[in-house]
Amino acid sequence: MDYRRAIPQICVMVGIGTVLRDDPELTVRLVKGKDPARVVVDSKLRIPVTAKVLNSKRGSVIIATTHERQEARGKRQKIKKIEAKGAEVWILPSKKKEVDLTALMKEIGKREIINLIIEGGSKFAASAIKERIVDKVAIFLAPKILGKEGLPMIGGLGIRRLSEAICLRKLQCKKIGEDILVEGYL
Ligand SMILES: NC(=O)c1ccc[n+]([C@@H]2O[C@H](COP(=O)([O-])OP(=O)(O)OC[C@H]3O[C@@H](n4cnc5c(N)ncnc54)[C@H](OP(=O)(O)O)[C@@H]3O)[C@@H](O)[C@H]2O)c1
Repeated sequence: MDYRRAIPQICVMVGIGTVLRDDPELTVRLVKGKDPARVVVDSKLRIPVTAKVLNSKRGSVIIATTHERQEARGKRQKIKKIEAKGAEVWILPSKKKEVDLTALMKEIGKREIINLIIEGGSKFAASAIKERIVDKVAIFLAPKILGKEGLPMIGGLGIRRLSEAICLRKLQCKKIGEDILVEGYL
């Protein structure tokens, strides 16, 4: 890996499900500020080369993928196409066929990224909590009711009883516009 490129010390990370569904740029909007490094966890390299995150020409982009089947010709060509867009592809060990988050955090640490925001989606947020790579949680509550058709904020954690719930500590609440921000530590 090439460690010479300067990477911002703030990083925003999402699962490939979010990229495929929402096609976000993951850059700073609405306020002034430096764009974070952007990381997409994408074990099977499903990201389309047309994805906005690869084409916004703002800040560093890292696609974290796994060793599995990277030697396949199509995969090598896709890596080249992604790199031609200026992004980096990190090939990491896998755990249960997905990106091993401990290995990913080690690579992020080597880049001296000290502030990592995991923006979801549902499945990736659950994995991040299960793999214990989360220190602090920030939940925005909007005054909107979706019912069971909505996607859960955090996917399956295998919790069956209220007594097993993960409790947040040192809670802080703030009203932001119409929403409420609840922050707490795991
Ligand atoms: N309201 C919000 O603030 C917010 C924020 C973000 C997203 N969202 C919503 O969330 C939805 C997407 O959530 P999602 O659950 O479908 O997808 P996701 O969590 O964004 O992505 C999950 C995918 O990431 C890949 N992945 C790679 N390594 C992983 C690991 N260690 N653990 C978990 N996943 C890993 C897997 O696909 P591969 O196996 O193919 O790699 C997995 O299926 C969208 O509808 C989006 O709008 C909402």
